[in-house]
Amino acid sequence: MSFDKYYPFTAEELPYTLNALEPNISEYTMYFHHDKHYMGYIDKLNKLLENRPFMQNVPLETLTKMEDEAIRTNAGGVYNHELYFSSLTPNYRKPSGRLAGQIEKDFGSLEALEEQLAEAGMNLVGSGWVWLAENPTGNLEILTTANQDTIDFDKYNPMLNIDVWEHAYYLDRQNRRDKYLNAVLQKANWLNAQNNMSE
Ligand SMILES: [Fe+2]
Repeated sequence: MSFDKYYPFTAEELPYTLNALEPNISEYTMYFHHDKHYMGYIDKLNKLLENRPFMQNVPLETLTKMEDEAIRTNAGGVYNHELYFSSLTPNYRKPSGRLAGQIEKDFGSLEALEEQLAEAGMNLVGSGWVWLAENPTGNLEILTTANQDTIDFDKYNPMLNIDVWEHAYYLDRQNRRDKYLNAVLQKANWLNAQNNMSE
């Protein structure tokens, strides 16, 4: 994903069709999620910056850390969803190469990592995000953030995230967040996660 985005923000196209993740995630959910929720954050962020020229050269990542709650939340909504949509793929492949080795080192196995990601999602109270990130020593860590907060980019390099807001799953799964997390992990884009690893 792009790490040098500035105002005016334009919505990223989904890297697959709306129905490409079915049956794990329905076309209906993807439509509302991408075209309504995500694009809503783009529109609101642009509106907020329209009359703040001094913020128009601030990169998206920095906007997600602003004190102004509206800017922070909407910038986070843009950033988090762009990583999320690129963290999914209709062409699932198990992690390979350097990522597979690092997963084995830090979690023991892919299954153990998946279990811990799902557990982090289940334990999250309210709306928020689960993240897989590299820490400063290059090891993988699972993190969670509330609402549209982002992780500490000075410390962590984000590789993959999972949206645990109800809008990500309620239409398909109602209250069964566990089923959603399982379905998402079956569509995880590990190649993209590996591309997001530091050199
Ligand atoms: Fe979302």
